[in-house]
Amino acid sequence: MNKIYRYLIVSTLGLTLVPGTSIAQNKFMGVGSCSSSNCHGGTSARKGTNVMQNEYVTWYKHGSHSKAWQVLTNSDSKKIAEHLGIADASKEPLCLKCHSTYVPDAALHGDKYNIDEGVSCESCHGAAEQWIKAHTDQDASHQKNVELGLNDLNDIGERAKLCLSCHYGNEEKTVNHKMIGAGHPRLSFELDTFSMIQPRHWEYDADYIKRKVDYVSTRTWLVGQAVIASENMKALNSAKRSKDGIWPELTLFTCYSCHHSLVEDQWKKRRYARPGQLRLNVSSLITLSEALSVIKPEYASALLGNMDKLHEAYKSGNGKEIVNSIQDTIDKKVLPFLKTANYNKIDAKKLLKKIVNVAADTPHFQYEEAEQLAMGISAILALPSINSEKYKPFEDGIYDALANPEDFTAEKFTLAARKFHSQL
Ligand code: HEC
Ligand code: HEC
Ligand code: HEC
Ligand code: HEC
Repeated sequence: MNKIYRYLIVSTLGLTLVPGTSIAQNKFMGVGSCSSSNCHGGTSARKGTNVMQNEYVTWYKHGSHSKAWQVLTNSDSKKIAEHLGIADASKEPLCLKCHSTYVPDAALHGDKYNIDEGVSCESCHGAAEQWIKAHTDQDASHQKNVELGLNDLNDIGERAKLCLSCHYGNEEKTVNHKMIGAGHPRLSFELDTFSMIQPRHWEYDADYIKRKVDYVSTRTWLVGQAVIASENMKALNSAKRSKDGIWPELTLFTCYSCHHSLVEDQWKKRRYARPGQLRLNVSSLITLSEALSVIKPEYASALLGNMDKLHEAYKSGNGKEIVNSIQDTIDKKVLPFLKTANYNKIDAKKLLKKIVNVAADTPHFQYEEAEQLAMGISAILALPSINSEKYKPFEDGIYDALANPEDFTAEKFTLAARKFHSQL
């Protein structure tokens, strides 16, 4: 992790959700339509209003989404483009699909639409043509806005899918090993952490909860893990994304299966694959299953049982059924459960203990797996019932072990986790 994905949640509770809607035919109005000072362009958060009204400044100044198009013109992108034989990354649909509000149909460009605004308000909130006026009406409501095409980001599952369309990829857009080899950074995502460090331009205050739903970081984390795991299964079964010619697509495996130091001892007992074999990157599925073993054991055993078979089946070319079965369990059982579970009833300490124990006890973790567990530990520590201050030094120890992927060793990580575990 080049950046330390950590934060402390200030607010406590959080969210209910309604299914997402599609907004395909509305015009995209451009950031200029949202950013005036009496709309969302205030210089500081306003009091006594529903929303902060300084969202534009937070997005523009403090986050990287506003620069997402600009990076396509920098020297890194020039190098990536050159390696891939692309003339100009800032005009290339492959890049624009994730680095801008990409709307190829010019008929859908409003007066202020500008591709150079990067990942803008409407990339996430949806094309605003129909709701832009109505959403400030006296009788406006979230439901009404959604009917007019506002994306329903209240639904954490829909929100996760939106983020992951760019932060994991889907059938339309992807960062494959060829692009990474050309210089693109590896993609890694955890919904709760990434929502906070975006940075967040909304407040989970009483008014938000009343208008929408309360917020629980653990729910966001787990729903996020379930959606990543589901997207992961889709990629494994996708003809387009699972192969690069006759070879398997290498981003489906843990990077350090191949890119590891040959000096460090690799021939150790490991849980999810054997030495000398490629290891599928199912890190979110692992984290999800282990967490479920505390809060819904029957779903955990269904997933864990299939995960053991997955690697073998995939290797022999017979993975389809198991992949489908895992995806079915997640989409039809796990996700609906996680969205509606009562998180007040979950024993947060027990969950923390479980995840830290997995980190402490599993031999030979790969970097990606360790990284997901670490972000999960942070999400649990954000629960109000846990004294996160007390555990901070041990959480720090875990992040220290992850600080540099190049000298990451499973031993350093498990040692830090054991120290943490001894305090629980
Ligand atoms: C599937 C979506 C996707 C596609 C396609 C994509 N990117 Fe990215 N790109 C991302 C995401 C997400 C990040 C941020 C990764 C992170 O930091 O977690 C990123 C980061 C980058 C960065 C590093 C930015 C920084 O601030 O250092 C560069 C440079 C970049 N992309 C260039 C490109 C180029 C050039 C292309 C086209 C050849 C491209 N990207 C295609 C999603 C994508
Ligand atoms: C990367 C995605 C993303 C981008 C880009 C983005 N937002 Fe958001 N925004 C969210 C999410 C997620 C939420 C929280 C969920 C919700 O309640 O809608 C949110 C919440 C908000 C809220 C608070 C809603 C409420 O009911 O309290 C406002 C207002 C808002 N965004 C405005 C903007 C504006 C204006 C821009 C552009 C300057 C913008 N957003 C850019 C994802 C995004
Ligand atoms: C349209 C594509 C797209 C969508 C949708 C999107 N992102 Fe991003 N995101 C990007 C790109 C591209 C970057 C890298 C930008 C750069 O570095 O200039 C990025 C960067 C980020 C970063 C900074 C990462 C870092 O390493 O510093 C965070 C955090 C983030 N996104 C969170 C989110 C969240 C949370 C959502 C969903 C609510 C979301 N994003 C939705 C494309 C997207
Ligand atoms: C099956 C093995 C395998 C897996 C898994 C794999 N790679 Fe690679 N990678 C390779 C090979 C082989 C090369 C080409 C090496 C060469 O040209 O010397 C390569 C090249 C690269 C390069 C270019 C390095 C250079 O010096 O040109 C990068 C960067 C890279 N991989 C990153 C990753 C990341 C990140 C992941 C995980 C998302 C990953 N790889 C997964 C085998 C793998």
